[in-house]
Amino acid sequence: MTGTAKLTYFSHWRCPSNIALVKYWGKHDFQKPMNPSLSFVLQNSFTETSVELSKDSDQKVEFYFEGAISNFGERIKKYLIQLSGRLPWVSKYNFRIRSHNSFPHSAGIASSASSFGALALCLTELDFTLSGKETGNPDFWQKASELARMGSGSACRSVYPGFSIWGKTQLFETSGDEYAIPVTEGISPVFSGLRDAILMVDSGTKEVSSSAGHQLMTDHIYQRSRIAQAHENINELYLSLLTGDQEKFVAVVENEALSLHAMMMTSNPSFILLKPNSLELINRIRQIREKSGIPVCFTIDAGPNIHLLYFQENELEVRTFIERELLTFCEDGKWIDDGIGIGPEASPKPPSRQASPDPSEGGE
Ligand code: PMV
Repeated sequence: MTGTAKLTYFSHWRCPSNIALVKYWGKHDFQKPMNPSLSFVLQNSFTETSVELSKDSDQKVEFYFEGAISNFGERIKKYLIQLSGRLPWVSKYNFRIRSHNSFPHSAGIASSASSFGALALCLTELDFTLSGKETGNPDFWQKASELARMGSGSACRSVYPGFSIWGKTQLFETSGDEYAIPVTEGISPVFSGLRDAILMVDSGTKEVSSSAGHQLMTDHIYQRSRIAQAHENINELYLSLLTGDQEKFVAVVENEALSLHAMMMTSNPSFILLKPNSLELINRIRQIREKSGIPVCFTIDAGPNIHLLYFQENELEVRTFIERELLTFCEDGKWIDDGIGIGPEASPKPPSRQASPDPSEGGE
């Protein structure tokens, strides 16, 4: 960049990644879900992003990831163009965006949810500042969720603490396909200490992207039954969250994870993202549950890694299982120690430029 760019506005947010328990798979129109989904945000896996707006530099969008210019900048440029209908000021400013993930690029954690979540929060804050609106306004979160959705569907669920729902469901009048809504009221305290051990089976690049997978749902032979199943599962899961029914929770969560992968295996063309060690871990987790009676279960994203979900009260026993019986099926024994989080936070501190840490045994 040449010349002296005058800093006019600045925003910085930290936004977590999220893991779906009822899965979004398949779209309609622009980034709208075929079925409702329910997820929770993580605490330790997040993206920090800062956006600087200036008016007199010679470059429109500069995007730095972990301190270096990144190719992801092209996707961000397209995203900003798409947003110009909603945020008319976008075309009038130059952007310098810096982003940093708390987790390594190769961890197999969906970074698009936290990345677009953090960027959408910055853009929403800037939008409110430029139009003189209070950021404490409830519209703020709704708008951030909607803008995040336009970058990556699942990102719209990252802007709230704890659990959230995206997509029209009979459970909430206020639910819809445009943005996610938080689900906080009435949740049993059993779930306030929900833990997620991300067992890393393979950190390589996925053979089939999520966007290609979503597209294959458009003519999927099981499309109608999958949509019906997701509605039924979201009702059951929400009920388990209200009543603290761990047995029901375990049953629905595993059914959803396997149904997502069943959709992949039965699409045309079909694809398989699970690896032999993913199946080993699934079987071991079920055996541990049966033998010990401890309510542990798994969920799986669009990839081979296994999220082992458990409850705070069983932390000691479950960590022993992880170390003794499960890490041998993980790539280089890697796992990330995470759990339900408190959601995004604004911060005046710009993202650190240091490289992401390696996931370690125990995560930290
Ligand atoms: O947001 P996308 O387009 O990366 O899709 C994510 C889809 C799943 O992670 C498989 C499920 C979900 O609901 O997050």
